[in-house]
Amino acid sequence: MAKILGIIGGGRRNGYTSFFLKESIQAAQTDGVETEIIYLPDYAFTPCISCFSCLRNPQHTCVRNDEFGKNGKGEIFQKVTEANAIIIADPVHLSGASAQTHMFFERCYPFLWSGLLNGMPIASISVASNKGMHINARRDICRWSYAFSMKYLMGVALHTAYGEEKNINAVRELGQIVSKAAKADARDGRISFTVEDCFKLYSSKPWNAFQYNLENLTDGLFTWEDSIIQKAKEHVKKPDALKLLASAEKALDIAVESYQKKQEEEAAKHLAEARTVWAEATLKEFLEDDIFKV
Ligand SMILES: Cc1cc2nc3c(=O)[nH]c(=O)nc-3n(C[C@H](O)[C@H](O)[C@H](O)COP(=O)(O)O)c2cc1C
Repeated sequence: MAKILGIIGGGRRNGYTSFFLKESIQAAQTDGVETEIIYLPDYAFTPCISCFSCLRNPQHTCVRNDEFGKNGKGEIFQKVTEANAIIIADPVHLSGASAQTHMFFERCYPFLWSGLLNGMPIASISVASNKGMHINARRDICRWSYAFSMKYLMGVALHTAYGEEKNINAVRELGQIVSKAAKADARDGRISFTVEDCFKLYSSKPWNAFQYNLENLTDGLFTWEDSIIQKAKEHVKKPDALKLLASAEKALDIAVESYQKKQEEEAAKHLAEARTVWAEATLKEFLEDDIFKV
C-alpha cells in the first residue's frame, strides 16, 4: 500500500490552505493508496539547534526531545519515514512560505545524511488570499525540496482571486499526479538522484537549481575569477581542504566557460562537481573538527 502524507504547513485549521489540501488528497485516494493529513501547528517541535547529532550518529536520527526528534521515534519523523510521497500545502506568509513549513524542512536535516528523502515524490500547494507573492512561496518549497534531492513533481501557487473552481481543478490534478508517483515509489522502490540529475529535474520548475548554484559559487557575477572559491583560497588553511578547493576551482572554471558557450550538459556536469567538492572543502575547513569533537 502506498502512503501519501498531506501536510498543512500552517494557516487556519479550517481555512483555505486546509480546504485545498483536502481536495487534493481526496483526488489522490485511488486503489492501493492510503492517505493521512497532519496540521503542523498540532505538533510540538522547535527549530534545529545545529547539534549535528544527526550527522554523527549512524542511524541519522534527531535527538531533540520533541515530536520531530526522539531518536527517530518522534511522530513527524516516523510519518515522513513511512511516506511514499508528500503533498505540502502552505499559506503564504510575508511573501514566502510560512515559518512552520520552513521549520519542517529544517528539521528534515537528518534525512540529508540518511538520504531517505532523495528521490521521494513531493508536490506543493501555496495559498495566498491577500496581496499575493504565492509564486515566491512555491519557489521556497521547491528550493527546500531540492536541498534533499526530493522528486519535486509540481507546485501550484494559488490565489483565492483565481476562483474556487479553477483552484480546485489545479489541486485535484496535483493529487492525481502524486498518487501515481506514490504508487511507483511503493512498487519499484525509491530512485535517488545525483546532483546533476537534480539540475535537470529542477530546471523547468518555478526555480532553477543550476542558475542558483552558479550564482552562489560565482558570488552573483557568473565569472569564476570572483568566485567564493577564489575568496576562500586566501583563508583556508588545512592542506586537505586546499586540495579540494583546487579541484572545485578547476571544475567551476570549466562550468563557467561551458555556460558561456551555451554547452549546457557540460556546464551542468562540472558545476555539479564544483558544488559537491566545494561543500566538502568548507565542511573540512570550517565545521568538521567541531562537529566530531563531541
Ligand atoms: C503572518 C501572515 C503573513 C501573511 N502574508 C501574506 C502575504 O504575503 N501574501 C498574501 O497573499 N497573504 C498573506 N497572508 C494571508 C494568508 O496567506 C492567507 O490567509 C492564506 O490564504 C492562507 O489562508 P488560510 O489561513 O485560510 O489557510 C498572511 C497571513 C499571515 C497570518
